[in-house]
Amino acid sequence: MDEIHDLVKRFGAAALRLKEAGFDGVEVHAAHFYLIHQFLSPTYNQRKDEYGGSSENRFRFLKEIVEEIRKTCGADYPLIVRVSLEEYIGENGYHPDYGITICKRLEALDVDALDITASGSASPRGQSIEYMTYEQGWRRFLVKAVKRSVKIPVIGVCVIRDPAYAEEMLASGDVDFVGSARNYLADAEWVNKAAAGDTALIRRCISCLRCIENLKAGYPAYCSVNPAAGKEFEEKELEKDGNGRSVIVLGAGPGGMQAALIAAQRGFSVTLYEKEDHAGGQLALAAAVPGKAKMNWLISYLTEACRDAGVSIVYNKELRAEELSALHPYALIDATGGTALIPASIPGTDLPIVCTPADILSGRILPKGESVLIVGSGLTGLETAEYLTTLPGTSVMVMEMDSKIAPTAYIASRTDAMGKLLVANVILMPGRQLLAIEEDRVRFLEISSGEERELPVDRVVLSLGVRSVAAYKDLPEGIADHVYTIGDAAKPGRIMEAIHQGYQIGKKL
Ligand SMILES: Cc1cc2nc3c(=O)[nH]c(=O)nc-3n(C[C@H](O)[C@H](O)[C@H](O)COP(=O)(O)OP(=O)(O)OC[C@H]3O[C@@H](n4cnc5c(N)ncnc54)[C@H](O)[C@@H]3O)c2cc1C
Ligand SMILES: Cc1cc2nc3c(=O)[nH]c(=O)nc-3n(C[C@H](O)[C@H](O)[C@H](O)COP(=O)(O)O)c2cc1C
Ligand code: SF4
Repeated sequence: MDEIHDLVKRFGAAALRLKEAGFDGVEVHAAHFYLIHQFLSPTYNQRKDEYGGSSENRFRFLKEIVEEIRKTCGADYPLIVRVSLEEYIGENGYHPDYGITICKRLEALDVDALDITASGSASPRGQSIEYMTYEQGWRRFLVKAVKRSVKIPVIGVCVIRDPAYAEEMLASGDVDFVGSARNYLADAEWVNKAAAGDTALIRRCISCLRCIENLKAGYPAYCSVNPAAGKEFEEKELEKDGNGRSVIVLGAGPGGMQAALIAAQRGFSVTLYEKEDHAGGQLALAAAVPGKAKMNWLISYLTEACRDAGVSIVYNKELRAEELSALHPYALIDATGGTALIPASIPGTDLPIVCTPADILSGRILPKGESVLIVGSGLTGLETAEYLTTLPGTSVMVMEMDSKIAPTAYIASRTDAMGKLLVANVILMPGRQLLAIEEDRVRFLEISSGEERELPVDRVVLSLGVRSVAAYKDLPEGIADHVYTIGDAAKPGRIMEAIHQGYQIGKKL
């Protein structure tokens, strides 16, 4: 009990330090399963004293903190409280009715505003910092429920990415302020661009969660789509010294487009050649996965920003070495990306039943009504499986050599995909190594028993990793003054690596 009283005092003292340091107000974090939330939560708070047992007792810790801050900072110092309205830990968690009780109690304590969020680190599907598959505004109903229940201002956070959507939320009266975190990581100018009506040039957060993954790995919250995030002190103004020198970029994936953009912004004369009839590279495949359409935001932004900066994009064109020689650019950037890795050691990979995730996700192969085996349960394999479950009559199985499905995938993306695959009756088969593909079946080794088995299938999708396209690795010396290789063309990675390398090379030219 003494410890609780001491903590209450410390919250008051901390708020006072913020006030004295010049902050305009203070927000108390009573959400996301941090300490105050644990007191509020009937699941976590098992106390039998005056801080547990009833909802009023569970609220006491927060009440005393609010009162203490009022005491140390004064009644006029703006005080906001962040509340998880729903815990999202299943039926035993607390729900919006209880969340609203907390909000009403806070209103009675005269707090100045409520910042409504949901869940926290204990919630299995990560509803507080949502993964890509959550739609814009998906938990707006929670904010709206609070707004209908209290008279004090309500701040709402719910995957708001589009200024027009934010305006509509405000106009509808569902919320008094819209809140966001990742909009400003992805584009520090989000608000200024929204105010100026430059919405096509907003680099929207695609909710990939790489920033959180970076934080958890001990790095700053580096962002996949914004190479400057987390490095603001190191970043200098772009030097505008391109002087019209010619730069050729090969490949309009994220890496190539980012490099072209920076080079053009620096005043180089940039031409970007893409062999397909559209931009995006593997992002366009990723966007076909159910729930990953936000990838299209990144494609649109990069295409629009390149256009705005004066990059000339030539589609349906694979430059031959002689053509490159004739053009002799100042700099040549190979951003031709990655393609599926097909191991030479497995017999039968050239049979007609064999294809790659790109064949499926691009729509080139439509295995409606077939029984499909995906070999390899990385995220691309699982996402291809998810896509296949949307085709009528298609049955899907996933084989993985490791004893665990998606052994290297980030937890939030894995949880998201696995939940959907199980509901769609996808058969997951870890601990099995593909040995050979035949005309209508595969042979594999069950690792635990050492037994060799066979499985009849109509189609095999090999999702065993990515290799660099490396189409231009043997170019003659002197084809350009400077030659660079970036992104998956240098080493298969992810969006962040491609975009950050594109940015760095664009600056270095
Ligand atoms: C299904 C799927 C889901 C994914 N999901 C994620 C995710 O959630 N998060 C994440 O971080 N990463 C994800 N990735 C990986 C990510 O998309 C890649 O790492 C990234 O796109 C690599 O960018 P890049 O620019 O280096 O190459 P690419 O995206 O491969 O682009 C290369 C471009 O070069 C073009 N090209 C090739 N050869 C030539 C040539 N000779 N001339 C002209 N053009 C050429 C290609 O057509 C392509 O447009 C996913 C990938 C896939 C396939
Ligand atoms: C890198 C990062 C760090 C965060 N840290 C906190 C935090 O310390 N406290 C908190 O309440 N929310 C934190 N959040 C959650 C955000 O405040 C916000 O509620 C959440 O990201 C959803 O909004 P968004 O989709 O606009 O980002 C963090 C989010 C990110 C991306
Ligand atoms: S890393 Fe991904 S989730 Fe995080 S801010 Fe950037 S785009 Fe959004």
